[in-house]
Amino acid sequence: MIEHVVINDVGPRDGLQNQPKILSVAQRLQLIHALCDANVQHIEVGAFVSPKAVPAMAASDEVLKGLIESKTQGWFSALIPNMRGYQLAAQANAETVAMVLYASESMAQKNVGMSRQQAADTTKEILKQAADDGIKVIATIAVAFECPFDGPIDPAIVIATAEEFLAQGASQIVIADTIGAANPAQVSAMMNSLVKNAGSEHLCCHFHDTRALGMANVYAAVQSGIRCFDASIAGLGGCPFAPGATGNIATEDAVMMLHSMGFETGIDLPKLIEASDLAEQITGTAPGGRSKKWLKPFLQKQQTNN
Ligand code: COA
Ligand code: ZN
Repeated sequence: MIEHVVINDVGPRDGLQNQPKILSVAQRLQLIHALCDANVQHIEVGAFVSPKAVPAMAASDEVLKGLIESKTQGWFSALIPNMRGYQLAAQANAETVAMVLYASESMAQKNVGMSRQQAADTTKEILKQAADDGIKVIATIAVAFECPFDGPIDPAIVIATAEEFLAQGASQIVIADTIGAANPAQVSAMMNSLVKNAGSEHLCCHFHDTRALGMANVYAAVQSGIRCFDASIAGLGGCPFAPGATGNIATEDAVMMLHSMGFETGIDLPKLIEASDLAEQITGTAPGGRSKKWLKPFLQKQQTNN
């Protein structure tokens, strides 16, 4: 039986929030549509955060409006940092929101000016409200392996937080290596423990490639039974509040590896490369997946032969 792996492209949010160039709503929609054309079905399309804190994510309501008006099919989520973000996302008819929890105290303070506990309490309020509103809540645990301010994280904190919020009704828990500091042995240990206690159905991993360990970490998580990954088209990414964080793992690299390992993602790789080219072209800074140099001519040759 061929197993399915879900790829959630966070390029239009995690990717674009950290680029020097701020894209227009039309350009953001163009990128999202290119991903949809490649059959990427899960996409984080924007963030309801302070436009002063993250100017690139301003007007995320218009991005959602554009997708709704064009009847674009897909599972679209938007990141939120607090209750105000939840309310704005709900007003914009978001079906899924991704609320951020923290494994460290300093990251919570730097990112949203809250304590860890305040972010957790707010998430519980949001989960209650969202259940009434029929909105799904993904809970992302930021800096799950290492914090740029507080250093290495005790895995027990992350495991306890993940289990607590699954029990609270989060539709998914994303274990996020926000600064790309995790190694595959740490990923195996954490994900084995989580999968053993909670099953893999509601778990997802989010890796950055800062230390070139992104794909090794995907492999470790796959071996632990994880079947959902955040990735960013053309390796766009970083976090403006986490010094040293570079791009996410590139969607094209993750899809290529998973397909070659015999998994299916439903994603059309040649069209994904077109979306990656577009991301490079409109941002001017996206590095492009590391496999692209080889993958592009390989896919072209394959298409000519067919
Ligand atoms: N979306 C839009 N505006 C928001 C908001 C949200 N989710 N939450 C608060 N605001 C507004 C407030 O209404 C207030 O507006 P005003 O100046 O017109 O009165 C202003 O932002 C400041 O609010 P305050 O509560 O004092 O917060 P702050 O200045 O400490 O900022 C956050 C807190 C959470 C809004 C801000 O730090 C933020 O948006 N962080 C997101 C960071 C992020 O996206 N990180 C990357 C992803 S993990
Ligand atoms: Zn990230």
